[in-house]
Amino acid sequence: MSMRAKPLFAANWKMFKGPRETEEFVGRFSSVYSAHPDRRVVFFPPSISLEAFVRSTDQRPDLEVGIQDVHEEVDGAHTGSISALMAAQVGLDWALAGHSERRREFGDDDALVAAKVGRILDSGLRPIVCVGETLEEREAGVLTEVLERQVRTVLASMDAGPLTWAYEPVWAIGTGRTASPEDAGQAHEIVRQAIRGGGGGELADSAVILYGGSVKPSNIEALMAVPGVDGVLVGGASLDPEAFAVICACPLGTR
Ligand code: PGA
Repeated sequence: MSMRAKPLFAANWKMFKGPRETEEFVGRFSSVYSAHPDRRVVFFPPSISLEAFVRSTDQRPDLEVGIQDVHEEVDGAHTGSISALMAAQVGLDWALAGHSERRREFGDDDALVAAKVGRILDSGLRPIVCVGETLEEREAGVLTEVLERQVRTVLASMDAGPLTWAYEPVWAIGTGRTASPEDAGQAHEIVRQAIRGGGGGELADSAVILYGGSVKPSNIEALMAVPGVDGVLVGGASLDPEAFAVICACPLGTR
């Protein structure tokens, strides 16, 4: 855990919850989770629900919000896409880039992810850059190589600034299978080294690196106790307000 950053608990709702369900969620979540000044909580609803989220959290400035993906260009004839600048106009704070579902389903490769991160930074939003290996890559022994490539391609295309990262092993996403604390700790160290080697220099020590992949109330404490795990990115378990409240309120021990 870096000394400076507050632990960050992020919810990635993927293609779940329209504006109505978003408002219902915020109502229930607000009644079971009170603001904790020692941590940050960030939600990534579907784009169509962002305004509903912003509106329904106007009394909860502790609940931050971001967009799940942006187009790599500022504007243009790209039917169905949203630019980072547009997202910033809605009053968002954050944007995800490089989630493995984007990489797999939409062909977001390292270069495209790097371009998106550039647009996100230009628009004043804060990116969370997702990296992670597939099961085949892990079994083939190329974990370090894959993570280094993913991290360095992003860093190579910009002046190294303070980015937030999420290490999400693809085999742990939505599978119920979580990386062991040892595996998570090892991968976070590889990501940190890659940041250091990729031009991130001393920023590597303070870089916030989240863990993602089947995080739930039963494993949050063990994961947050791992040195180098600065927070979590939660999919499935973030859809339930009570479960996500338990995750966000987890004891942080002596970190
Ligand atoms: P999961 O998803 O918690 O459902 O595994 C995590 C993610 O994809 O960010």
